[in-house]
Amino acid sequence: MQHCKNVKVTHKEKWLPFAQSFLMTKVFHTIDQLAELIYSHKKEGQTVAFVPTMGALHEGHASLIIEAKKKHPIVVSSIFVNPTQFNDPSDLEKYPRTLEKDTIICREAGLDYLYVPTVHEIYPPSFNTTLDLDLNGLDLVMEGKFRPGHFDGVCQVVKRLLDLVMPTHLYMGQKDFQQFTIIQYMLHQLKIPVELVVIETSREKSGLARSSRNTRLSPAGIKKASVIYRTMSAIKEKQNTLSVPELENYGMKRLKRAGFEPEYVTISDSKTLKAVEKLDGKKSAVLCLAAWLEGVRLIDNILL
Ligand code: PAF
Repeated sequence: MQHCKNVKVTHKEKWLPFAQSFLMTKVFHTIDQLAELIYSHKKEGQTVAFVPTMGALHEGHASLIIEAKKKHPIVVSSIFVNPTQFNDPSDLEKYPRTLEKDTIICREAGLDYLYVPTVHEIYPPSFNTTLDLDLNGLDLVMEGKFRPGHFDGVCQVVKRLLDLVMPTHLYMGQKDFQQFTIIQYMLHQLKIPVELVVIETSREKSGLARSSRNTRLSPAGIKKASVIYRTMSAIKEKQNTLSVPELENYGMKRLKRAGFEPEYVTISDSKTLKAVEKLDGKKSAVLCLAAWLEGVRLIDNILL
């Protein structure tokens, strides 16, 4: 180390580079070295939380990392735009890819390791990674109905990522309600020893759920998209006065009137995702919806 005479180094200047070296997120494009590090952390008794993403990160993803970091010494995230979960090739093509900005968000959120694998690493031609798992109908409603095969792709990639990263905890957002319900089911069915932690949906002040897809909306579209949250809140308020079909119809109509093309507004049992006939407070219910605006497909949900 060099020592300079007559230069006063403040406390902050002295410690900053040292502190920054700890704040650096290490980026890995292949699993080998990362797997070794994760193995050594676990051997020391540390828990390792994993936040899988498809990139185009925003505050919602950052909140998953921040929440995970509060509980676990090591947090790993992945960025992989998974081709097998896109049933529409143009959606895959249009999916925003913003790795440089994503890396900064990860670092600021305190992420330890970022895994950015290639398609070849996730889906090596040498063996079959498809998962033959019956999802017990969880995949046939809502998103699964409108995006056939989507959840097969999600399960395939999450299973593969878990096999490679081998975390102790998996962090996912409540925004993708059906997704985390299905992943929980998969963990249980395959006896994967990973604990799923679900973090509340991160919202703009307007109530709009944060999503990578929001970047494809115009400023007017962003403003209009907040109608989704207002509609869900209105349905929640009316839950004791209207029947389930009336509540669903109300949601569809209100979204159409506001200029959306809604695909579904569905109230279901929050565990089984089966339709509920009435809301009697005995079982927890969830309202989920999907609607198109300016050619962008938005989804959201609220517990009733
Ligand atoms: O929610 C997502 O971003 C993706 O579906 C996931 C879980 C990262 C799998 O590709």
